[in-house]
Amino acid sequence: MAESIVLAYSGGLDTSVACKWLQEERGYDVVCLTVDLGNLPDVEGAKRRGAEAGAKSVEFTDAREDFLRYFVFPALAANAVYEGQYPLATALGRPLIAKLLVDKAREVGATAVAHGCTGKGNDQVRFDVAIQTLAPDLTIVGTARENEMTRDEAMEYAAKHGISVRTTVESPYSTDENLWGRSVECGVLEDPWAAPPEDAYAWTKPLDRTPERPAHVEITFKEGFPVALDGEELGPVELVQRLSDLGGEHGIGRIDMVEDRLVGIKSREIYEAPAATILIEAHKALEALTLSKLQLRMKERVAQEYADLIYNGLWFSAHHRDLAAYTQSTQRHVSGDVRMRLWRGRAVPEGRRSDESLYSYELATYGSGDQFDQKAAAGFIKLWGLPVQVQAQRQLLREPGDPLHLAAPEE
Ligand code: ARG
Repeated sequence: MAESIVLAYSGGLDTSVACKWLQEERGYDVVCLTVDLGNLPDVEGAKRRGAEAGAKSVEFTDAREDFLRYFVFPALAANAVYEGQYPLATALGRPLIAKLLVDKAREVGATAVAHGCTGKGNDQVRFDVAIQTLAPDLTIVGTARENEMTRDEAMEYAAKHGISVRTTVESPYSTDENLWGRSVECGVLEDPWAAPPEDAYAWTKPLDRTPERPAHVEITFKEGFPVALDGEELGPVELVQRLSDLGGEHGIGRIDMVEDRLVGIKSREIYEAPAATILIEAHKALEALTLSKLQLRMKERVAQEYADLIYNGLWFSAHHRDLAAYTQSTQRHVSGDVRMRLWRGRAVPEGRRSDESLYSYELATYGSGDQFDQKAAAGFIKLWGLPVQVQAQRQLLREPGDPLHLAAPEE
């Protein structure tokens, strides 16, 4: 009897070809697994093409809620954003898909798992590292990495084996979607000087078609996680989907960047992440109110480290566990509301409040009711500036040249 393999299956041309190829060239029985992370898979089409491609079965898992609860929201709590811009939608989805592939392999007694990632990207790294960490005994087949078919060859292969190729025109881009965002690459985008054509975007309106008037939304966080919009408690899927739609309507969350892949190449990427953009801005605004300056400074450093480890496929690592523990600890008092203004491509915090706010009106006000002891400031400043004063007198003023313009101007 042939050994079984579980294939991460999108239902598109490439993974359908991969399904057939795994049988023909590698002799596997293929179980196709389609994971829904909010990318709205075409269930009927996937089933049909899977059957045409000879799959033993085509199975679906709705992982949307787990994706947000256990992958996206912890990353939001950390404000994890890669190279200052990318909220990591694709990168966050991979370890969960990998885990579900492994679970399915165990369930059906498969000896291998497969994915269709190319050999040039980050996604293969994320899948492989996660799979080999969770299940070192499973064989991993990267179909695109191993069969090196061009797009035309894949079409030919599909036609030859009776797999129906989509009647609609294939997108000129390579895209990946889930609830946290949409990633777009290839085609004309490979020229970093070329402006992204409007058809690269699917979720967000161009600024000349966004509403005249701003929209406002009040986001409630509980211990760092978003739990309600405009006072209405919502589950994660509903909450993120609503913000995504609303943000897209106002042209929020378009990102155009050149990023550094783990495999050493720079690539030009387009992202659409309306919900992520709004939530990260709102979360930061609430943290500014509820965390100390020292916590904020440390969190900023951790955010970068956190983003790198997600991007680089190290989700199931001890390093992640440790950073997650720190991040979670910081979120104990990050509860409250942020009112966001959404307008013309921007999501701007307009108001924030919390029962655990560190903002003290009595200390901050310039009006009556001021309780700040202004006289104490003089002594504080004397000591704060003391080392600067001593060093300037003993060293800087005696050095040749005067780059800081310390010396009194000559008459
Ligand atoms: N560059 C992004 C990342 O590494 C997105 C990858 C998108 N994948 C795709 N199949 N288009 O996370």
